[in-house]
Amino acid sequence: MENIVALAKRRGFIFQSSEIYGGLNGFFDYGPLGSELKKNIRDCWWKDMVHRRDDIVGLESSIIMHPKVWEASGHVAGFTDPLIDCKVSKQRYRADQLFFSPVVVDGKTAGYVSALESENTVGALQAAAEAFKRKKALQGTLAPVVAKDMTEAKPEEIELIPSPATGEAGSLTPPRSFNMMFQTNVGAMTDASSVAYLRPETAQGMFVDFKNVVDTGRVKLPFGIAQIGKSFRNEITPRNFIFRSREFEQMEMEYFIHEDADWSKAHQEWIEWCRQWLLSIGLPASHLSLYAHPKEKLAFYSKGTVDIMFAYPFGVQELWGIAARGNYDLNQHANASGKPQELFDEATKKKFVPHVIEPAVGVDRILLAVLCAGYAEEDVKDEKGNVEKRTVLRLSPRIAPVKVAVLPLLKNKEALVGRARALYQKLQRRYAVFYDDGGNIGKRYRRQDEIGTPWCVTIDFDTIEKPGDTFTLRERDSMAQKRITEAELFALLEEQVY
Ligand code: GAP
Repeated sequence: MENIVALAKRRGFIFQSSEIYGGLNGFFDYGPLGSELKKNIRDCWWKDMVHRRDDIVGLESSIIMHPKVWEASGHVAGFTDPLIDCKVSKQRYRADQLFFSPVVVDGKTAGYVSALESENTVGALQAAAEAFKRKKALQGTLAPVVAKDMTEAKPEEIELIPSPATGEAGSLTPPRSFNMMFQTNVGAMTDASSVAYLRPETAQGMFVDFKNVVDTGRVKLPFGIAQIGKSFRNEITPRNFIFRSREFEQMEMEYFIHEDADWSKAHQEWIEWCRQWLLSIGLPASHLSLYAHPKEKLAFYSKGTVDIMFAYPFGVQELWGIAARGNYDLNQHANASGKPQELFDEATKKKFVPHVIEPAVGVDRILLAVLCAGYAEEDVKDEKGNVEKRTVLRLSPRIAPVKVAVLPLLKNKEALVGRARALYQKLQRRYAVFYDDGGNIGKRYRRQDEIGTPWCVTIDFDTIEKPGDTFTLRERDSMAQKRITEAELFALLEEQVY
């Protein structure tokens, strides 16, 4: 992770927000290459989800919506995380991410240990229990730890569990509900009547505009409404770089189906669509897995949720959630607004409220996944046979920020530069390309490898002196080189950048 974060900063993918003022936890800026990469991810999703399907239309709803939207959706009452304070250090923890265990020696509880959730929470607790036993010079057999999170701690246990910040017991508060929506005020008054929220998900826009789209969009069931946009959550513990942040971007789609349709089939189809889409932008199948939420943990209205998980360097984590939400949201908005959200079934001559399947994914999480999966450090031989390290970012041509780098072999030979400039300008009309004439060719290739450019074309003496007007095409992953004409280069791009 450290290497990936360092590369992201060094090459202008991602910066801490407001860095010159010390940064703001949970907020990030995307630099010149990061904003290209992010845009490409969004564009690919939109093309595949909206343009290349006949049953899905787009939407761009406002970030601040009527506060009643969030009352009806349940977010005002229930969009909470369990929060614990350490009264001494003033640190705050999410109770479900702070784990504890009794230290049991010869069958008796001698005290408690705690650890923040990690790749190896149980190991951390066990090590803490052993250290506790040594420090207190306890004799006897230490039982294996039993890890529970703080939402499961009994009131009498909370007193005895040490704070991870101080290592001492007695300073942790019982968990309380913390609403994650950012509040603001609309208009000149800053009283309760003007309170509004930054949206914590884009999804409600699709439910609230459902009737508008039906009445204007010439859509017929089953159909979907898709949206890409910023969402905001005041996460208690933003972490793992851009994985969990407070301002992030979502790509969500609400797929409406008849109330009598086979929701399970539609759900399965969307899970597979999402998985295939992730493969299409270059994530390896080996890093992807599915996690079905246990029935007892689902919201009462939910019929099923499956997450596509990704093996990040810090553990296997949720990338994309695909939920079967029944008709809960449309019903909630119908009840709260007094405006029915029904469709008319011509066959049965009855009105009904459609059900929905919702694939919801974060752009930032996808971007982090492609950086993690694509990053590699390799030993390679230079022209003289010396072994050197190369850092390479294996990004799919679909999403790579720069598709082709155009490199004149020498920058002081007019004929080479002229041909290179002409090719560059022609490519520029359709693709994000880069012109680089600084340093030796090997170094220029390395610079492009590091930012994930799939191809470099070198304009050399053969280009200008031999018939055929061919260039050297150098492929990033294999580093193989071959000669190629301009027409062949455009054909290659047409096929790979779609
Ligand atoms: N409308 C449903 C919904 O918002 P979610 O599981 O809370 O569901 C959907 O969020 C996706 O949004 C997640 O799978 C994740 O990719 C992304 N996401 C959620 N919270 C995030 C955060 N704090 N930072 C970055 N991405 C986040």
